[in-house]
Amino acid sequence: MARVAVVTGGTRGIGEAISVALKQAGYVVAANYAGNDDRARAFSEVTGIPAYKWDVADYDACVAGIKRVEAELGPVEVIVNNAGITRDATMKKMARAAWDEVLDTNLGGCYNMCKAAWDGMLARGFGRIVNIGSINGQAGQYGQVNYAAAKSGIHGFTKALSQEGAAKGITVNAIAPGYIDTDMVAAVPPEVLAKIVAKIPVGRLGKAEEIARGVLFLVADQGGFITGSTLSINGGQHMY
Ligand code: CAA
Repeated sequence: MARVAVVTGGTRGIGEAISVALKQAGYVVAANYAGNDDRARAFSEVTGIPAYKWDVADYDACVAGIKRVEAELGPVEVIVNNAGITRDATMKKMARAAWDEVLDTNLGGCYNMCKAAWDGMLARGFGRIVNIGSINGQAGQYGQVNYAAAKSGIHGFTKALSQEGAAKGITVNAIAPGYIDTDMVAAVPPEVLAKIVAKIPVGRLGKAEEIARGVLFLVADQGGFITGSTLSINGGQHMY
């Protein structure tokens, strides 16, 4: 039977490409999203992938969301924790709310989703979890103490949880994307972005599909010996 995969933030940007790639590879996909109803509706119309609305920062909503997906599509065996937000500002200007929102969504969302699906994965003896980190969690970035801390936390979370899943058939890995051509990166001031792109050895922004390809590799049934690892996909910008 086809495995059921949940992709958080799965209707736009990198998440959209992941949802589509998983569907093309034969998975039954549930694309979670938090806010943009119009984009989610358009995504579902074009791809045929159902969109499920809940906020990954809300633990109870994640538990209810996983329950609903399982009732409608079947046991969740693959989770891609991709949902993420930025609230960039220098420390001087960063409000406490900008810290909390980014930590609660980007890192708290990983806990909430994994916790909600973990017992089922343990009981079935199979699971594939991929957490989307960031080059900026590895290297830091000016104006992103919140985002870099959350993404760096994802890499620690991945290594710790992978140890708990290893003997139970559950792999937990991370991907650290570099600068990818998405709405999030388009929001970076153009003069700042130009300087960043100039430092990417491949000479361009990445494509969302290039991250999706890494996800397919990590979630494959044959990937049982790959766990606790981080796959950097960044055009050579940072070698870690
Ligand atoms: N290194 C050193 N100094 C820097 C700098 C840098 N990287 N970036 C900016 N500065 C300096 C500026 O030169 C300026 O100095 P002066 O005051 O002496 O002129 C000062 O910092 C203030 O800069 P800004 O005018 O840009 O300040 P701001 O408050 O308007 O904006 C900012 C600050 C929000 C951080 C803005 O620079 C910004 O958005 N930067 C981009 C941050 C970024 O790369 N975010 C990534 C988003 S995409 C993503 O996160 C996806 C992923 O995983 C890769």
